[in-house]
Amino acid sequence: MACVGRGRLSAAEVEPPPPEGRHVNLAGNENAFGPSPAAVQAIFKAAALSSRYPFREEYVLKQMLAQREGVAVENIVLGNGCDEILALAAAAFLAKDAELVAAQPTYFQITDYAGKLGAKVTWVPFTKTMHHDLPAMAAAVVERTKLVYVCNPDNPSGTVRPAAEVESFCREVAPRAPVFLDEVYLELGEDFAAQTQVPLVRAGLPVIIGRSFSKMHGLAGHRISYAVTTPKLADALSRMQMSSVNYIGVAAARAALLDREFPGWSRRKIAAGREKFAGLLGELGLKFTPSHGNFIFHRTGRPIAEYQAQMKAKGFLVGWPHAPVVGFEDWCRTSIGTDAEMTAHAAAMREVMAGRG
Ligand SMILES: Cc1ncc(COP(=O)(O)O)c(C=O)c1O
Repeated sequence: MACVGRGRLSAAEVEPPPPEGRHVNLAGNENAFGPSPAAVQAIFKAAALSSRYPFREEYVLKQMLAQREGVAVENIVLGNGCDEILALAAAAFLAKDAELVAAQPTYFQITDYAGKLGAKVTWVPFTKTMHHDLPAMAAAVVERTKLVYVCNPDNPSGTVRPAAEVESFCREVAPRAPVFLDEVYLELGEDFAAQTQVPLVRAGLPVIIGRSFSKMHGLAGHRISYAVTTPKLADALSRMQMSSVNYIGVAAARAALLDREFPGWSRRKIAAGREKFAGLLGELGLKFTPSHGNFIFHRTGRPIAEYQAQMKAKGFLVGWPHAPVVGFEDWCRTSIGTDAEMTAHAAAMREVMAGRG
């Protein structure tokens, strides 16, 4: 745990070695550096009050988020993780025989959920450089298309489309079908303010921006997230929601938003880990995509299941639940762990690649 910026913790406390007998999980895109000490303090404090429903606290969090995003409270929907926001969007817009347009490969939750609802997914393959092919996605929108999903930065590839391209895509497509812009990894970039498409929401365009406290803030276990969207779409999402978010998660998120130090520190630690891992992949001659997330998508030179088993035998969980994707059978997504975890992971990977795994 922890933010070294405060200088209160020893190096051993900051980078604990992996617990013995447990696998190091580099398969979940969790933030290994979180949560911030301020969030932890708030979590303990909130625990004593958690016999209460969080309705008032939720509203305060929504106000804070609205202020942060430059929108009104009516533009914010809280969710149990961005996964719930994705499920709400699917439930609101995708009925049997409706169509969802999505890139291939991308984050699988909404595409899976669409299938459960009886909707059809129109997959649009990546460009050769492994980016969303936005012109092809726009061309794939037909009358039956009721939702379009763009994950920017994408998971698993980590690639990002520049703000200007995403904006013109949304201006063209959103009047025909709402666009869900999954920006859960965008905050990990230095130029977040210039890249986010929240200005489109302010302009009244039917887009839903998905955000999460799981990534930069390291609060994945609290399942707290939100959407920024138009009041009309916020209402459509909220109608599909049965429960609220949880009391302790709300307290943690509020503390996280007030923490001026942790986000920058967290971002720098993840970027440094990513750079080091990219160096290793270069050394091993393994192709990878330029990632803007807390993970890297890279080749392994063998079927992903074989690579996962080899790395598991060495104590590391890598990949993601839907691997492999057609066309990416030997590609793995590896999340960035703590410095100690990544050093140990590098040694394991070198052995596996040298045939000693
Ligand atoms: C692209 C993307 N969207 C949404 C989520 C879900 O985030 P949350 O933890 O807020 O449910 C993830 C989680 O890994 C993700 O990668």
